[in-house]
Amino acid sequence: MHRRSTGTAGERVVVRDVLGRRDRRAELAQDVHGGLSGRVRQIPPKYFYDARGSELFERITGLPEYYLTRAETEILQDHALDLVAEIGAHVLVEYGSGSSVKTRLLLDAMEARGSLEQYVPVDVSEEAVHAAADILAAEYPGLQVVIVVADFDMPLDLSFAGRPRLIAFLGSTIGNFEPQAARRFVECVAEELEPGDGFLVGFDLVKDRRELEAAYNDAAGVTAEFNLNLLAVLNRELGADFDLGAFRHRATYDEEGARIEMRLVSERDQEVRIGALGLAVHFEAGEALLTEFSHKYTHGSALALLQAGGLHLRRWETDREGRFALALAGLG
Ligand code: SAH
Ligand code: AVI
Repeated sequence: MHRRSTGTAGERVVVRDVLGRRDRRAELAQDVHGGLSGRVRQIPPKYFYDARGSELFERITGLPEYYLTRAETEILQDHALDLVAEIGAHVLVEYGSGSSVKTRLLLDAMEARGSLEQYVPVDVSEEAVHAAADILAAEYPGLQVVIVVADFDMPLDLSFAGRPRLIAFLGSTIGNFEPQAARRFVECVAEELEPGDGFLVGFDLVKDRRELEAAYNDAAGVTAEFNLNLLAVLNRELGADFDLGAFRHRATYDEEGARIEMRLVSERDQEVRIGALGLAVHFEAGEALLTEFSHKYTHGSALALLQAGGLHLRRWETDREGRFALALAGLG
């Protein structure tokens, strides 16, 4: 853990880099090797978020078709104060915090109650989390920010963080987990919680297929650029030679799995070399690389997930159009 000292706000920003840069590249290499060698070709979505990917995601949040961020913001505007009051939180831990924009509504609520002490953003995107921490430390006097650059999919030691604690997981990022992994994730969160702490999680809700597919196939093509940027990450980090013009973005809703499935589809027969892995991968025309699942929930499926993970649902708030929900859960 080290303290940065770039002025008074900088002195309140502490960094805990759980995964070193070299480990991260080794993990990427392993995931890509495994993901391209199997029958279903796939790359985990956490690799979208280099500096460019995080910037593209921010643009997605403002797109007319991408209602998720606006809906969740509306819920926070209406309920942040009572959600924070219900826990009496002094510490906010946030998984997949990204730019921490919506986070401000929770920090403002904690500040208004006079209980704001510590913010712990946990994210794999080093660039995004550092930029956000600097801005927040400058804007909230007295707030200590502890940056954790880590994968929230691995058990994290949060014993340094104070209490009472609200662990937030916004943006429907929980939707990226497949059902079993989502359950394991909730179980890990439950282990981190003590009686009185809270888990605040954003769920995108099942709705009309057209609205869902439009949100992931925007007219301006930003989601396509976000998806294709994954190939640019592999080219840069692993010396691969993906031709970004030879793959096409595809996002479709699978009703049975209640999920958006995002893929990159090969436009032609081609061979891609991954230099760092000494691997050559053949893609036939029309063959797909799976890049992301975005599971959609109902009140019932979200409740079942939280209960299966050992948590008790305390509050369920939706936006006025019922497109998105924030659940506040705790130990039974
Ligand atoms: N919470 C923000 C950002 C959501 S984008 C919002 O609601 O708008 C998803 C964020 O999760 C990105 O910042 C990405 O870097 C981070 N992320 C994705 N997978 C991750 C993982 N396995 N571990 C840690 N962070 C992850
Ligand atoms: C961060 N995550 C939950 C977003 C989502 O909606 O699944 C990422 C995203 N993918 C395409 N558009 C947005």
